[in-house]
Amino acid sequence: MGIKKAEYVFSEKTVTYYFDATFSSLAEIVSKDHTILITDENVFNNQQEKFNGWKTIVIRPGEEFKQQAAVDEILQQLIKYEADRKTFVVGIGGGVVTDITGYAASIYMRGLRFGFVPTTILAMVDASIGGKNGVDAGIYKNLVGLIKQPDFLLFDYSFLETLPREQWINGFAEIIKHACIKDEYLFQLLENETLENFIGDKNKLGELIERNVQIKTNVVLKDEFENGDRKLLNFGHTLGHAIENNYQLLHGHAISIGMVGASIISEKINNFSAEQKARLVRLLEKYHLPSHLDFDHEKIWEILKMDKKRVGNEMNFILLNKIGEAIVMSIPFTELKSLINQI
Ligand SMILES: NC(=O)c1ccc[n+]([C@@H]2O[C@H](COP(=O)([O-])OP(=O)(O)OC[C@H]3O[C@@H](n4cnc5c(N)ncnc54)[C@H](O)[C@@H]3O)[C@@H](O)[C@H]2O)c1
Ligand SMILES: [Zn+2]
Repeated sequence: MGIKKAEYVFSEKTVTYYFDATFSSLAEIVSKDHTILITDENVFNNQQEKFNGWKTIVIRPGEEFKQQAAVDEILQQLIKYEADRKTFVVGIGGGVVTDITGYAASIYMRGLRFGFVPTTILAMVDASIGGKNGVDAGIYKNLVGLIKQPDFLLFDYSFLETLPREQWINGFAEIIKHACIKDEYLFQLLENETLENFIGDKNKLGELIERNVQIKTNVVLKDEFENGDRKLLNFGHTLGHAIENNYQLLHGHAISIGMVGASIISEKINNFSAEQKARLVRLLEKYHLPSHLDFDHEKIWEILKMDKKRVGNEMNFILLNKIGEAIVMSIPFTELKSLINQI
């Protein structure tokens, strides 16, 4: 199978996507001498042979290390490697690695060029696309960062061979999110398939990933700086982010619960049907995702209030009209608080 190359023109630069690529072709895109790779311990230990001959910075894995301290450590190591303006930085990992890499590369010497090799389903279909980079500040998700596009994304599905099953499940939450907001056909396709079918069939998986890359890319191209349509990608994320770090949930698990919460609100104030809500819950459960959490409403409200989608005393909340179609609705805090209390 040959590499499929696609180019997308963002406001700041053209981003090249290499589908069906192998990691070894990275050496044809960037020069080994002027490139520093950033990955985490899990990816490094599982796929060590891929890193032979590359200067590599290995960070600690997981959301708890997606903090400014990890960025500072990377900056120190870039200095040690004597990285300069010609240095290219490539993040190889899940969304934590790509978010941190884009951010660290963007601030070192006011900005080095960078690219990503996403290694989780979630990073392939979502986190590596669109140029949002950054870190959490304590429990506040993605509070610090910037929007800057990578030069390229390289998709090598062989990384997924070592991805733990729970991380496959994690990534399917964003796939189901895409189906909910933009693609009813994809929703039906997922209803007719199973996780095991995708894990076991490389072609099926490749098609699924590319379809989702396309959905996310189209949304971002239309609205890079999140004035309109890009907000829809936050479906399930307002409540999801509030519970994610507080209950130490995987991102996908948190937004799965968040999507059900948003669909309950959609039913109450946006005529989303109870039957479609039940269909969403069934699909999430089919892909082994949680649909409910008994959370502490007061505590979660205090975190939720700090969400970046807050505007004064209102919150831009993403609701469904129907499966495949979402809208942004501005909900006053008092009303939102009572709606959240009913979840
Ligand atoms: N920038 C964006 O637009 C955007 C969008 C969605 C999510 N995100 C962020 O992405 C993060 C979640 O991403 P994630 O789920 O990929 O998390 P992650 O980077 O923590 O990866 C999940 C786990 O899988 C391990 N792993 C990664 N690749 C592996 C492989 N090939 N084999 C074995 N283990 C592997 C990692 O070490 C980690 O333990 C969150 O921080 C979220 O905020 C960002
Ligand atoms: Zn997400």
